Amino acid sequence: MNVNKSQLRNFGLVLALPVAAIGAVSVATDNMSSLVAHGPVQQGHVDVDCVGCHSIGVGTVRQQIQANLAYALGKRSTSVNFGFQPVTSIQCLSCHDRPNERHPIYRFNEPRFADVRSSLEVNSCVGCHSEHVDSRVSVSETLCSHCHDDLVLKNDPLDVQHDQLVVDDAWSSCLGCHDFHGNHPHESQTLLSDAFPVEAIRDYFGNGSDPYGSQKIYEATFDD
Ligand code: HEC
Ligand code: HEC
Ligand code: HEC
Ligand code: HEC
Ligand code: HEC
Repeated sequence: MNVNKSQLRNFGLVLALPVAAIGAVSVATDNMSSLVAHGPVQQGHVDVDCVGCHSIGVGTVRQQIQANLAYALGKRSTSVNFGFQPVTSIQCLSCHDRPNERHPIYRFNEPRFADVRSSLEVNSCVGCHSEHVDSRVSVSETLCSHCHDDLVLKNDPLDVQHDQLVVDDAWSSCLGCHDFHGNHPHESQTLLSDAFPVEAIRDYFGNGSDPYGSQKIYEATFDD
């Protein structure tokens, strides 16, 4: 698809116009504020062009105003994006293609993950990574509990074995030794006391330093 970059420069305008139009007919709901509310992109994305994630949307601006008015008035169940299409995993994967992926999202479309999907959007990048919230990861570090509660290792190398960690409900410990995607050349520790503390993990989720080291097996690519 051809992305018109001058339209990008008008990003603010594209958003401001319909919002102003709606303001003019005095429809004010909480849903409206979400249309303009956005914070900074996360650190890794400061050099990423907005159109890397936001492609130009479907429908004319007039149609979009009508659809969003209907939404605000409760006549539609979904709002539409002004000028831009919703951000999906396709955009993310176009730059973050990682053949070593330990937890590929497509795997979690399988029926056996239906229950997990109802509480955690594991089959979508934005299910765990919200943008414009100034953080890398937007889910709890205990997310492993959704799928690994039957964990038993044949020759468990840990001082406190994995099945014991499960019994102890120690879900905050997992990321202390394993990254999620397997994209760091980090080797898992074998002593629980060597695991990165949960504070270090939470700090990393929130744009702090990376406990597994700055080296990546696959760096994200982008052309621009
Ligand atoms: C890494 C991907 C990414 C980049 C880069 C990015 N965004 Fe976003 N943006 C998102 C996601 C995800 C959302 C959540 C809404 C959605 O899914 O469309 C969003 C939402 C928004 C919204 C709110 C739209 C609405 O309908 O609520 C605006 C406005 C916005 N972005 C502007 C920008 C601008 C301006 C830039 C460039 C400075 C930018 N974004 C860069 C991913 C990105
Ligand atoms: C146009 C290319 C591009 C797109 C699209 C893109 N990214 Fe990125 N992303 C990058 C680059 C470049 C980096 C910084 C280098 C790196 O960390 O590999 C980065 C960094 C990140 C980081 C932080 C890595 C770190 O260690 O700080 C996360 C998390 C991330 N991206 C997730 C996403 C998600 C989720 C999406 C889709 C909503 C997305 N990206 C879309 C290029 C992109
Ligand atoms: C179920 C939750 C979940 C989903 C879904 C998810 N991530 Fe992550 N992601 C994480 C967690 C947790 C971390 C921090 C641990 C780590 O670095 O692996 C992370 C870290 C990252 C990083 C930084 C480390 C690295 O590998 O460079 C990038 C980039 C990233 N994710 C991109 C993506 C993309 C792209 C998708 C969709 C294809 C995606 N994530 C889907 C949970 C998730
Ligand atoms: C949505 C379900 C789901 C979640 C959430 C999840 N995993 Fe997994 N994980 C899997 C599946 C499925 C496999 C593959 C198992 C297999 O192939 O037998 C796997 C494999 C692994 C492996 C082995 C990878 C390999 O190369 O053999 C590790 C380590 C792992 N997960 C750690 C974690 C950690 C740590 C978390 C939390 C941060 C986590 N997982 C969250 C489903 C999940
Ligand atoms: C003290 C460090 C440490 C902690 C904490 C830890 N692991 Fe591990 N884990 C390892 C090591 C070491 C291995 C074996 C080598 C490897 O696969 O990296 C391993 C292996 C695994 C495997 C692969 C099993 C296989 O068959 O290959 C999975 C899945 C896994 N861990 C999940 C988890 C989950 C989920 C948690 C949280 C309950 C957790 N780990 C906590 C260090 C740890």
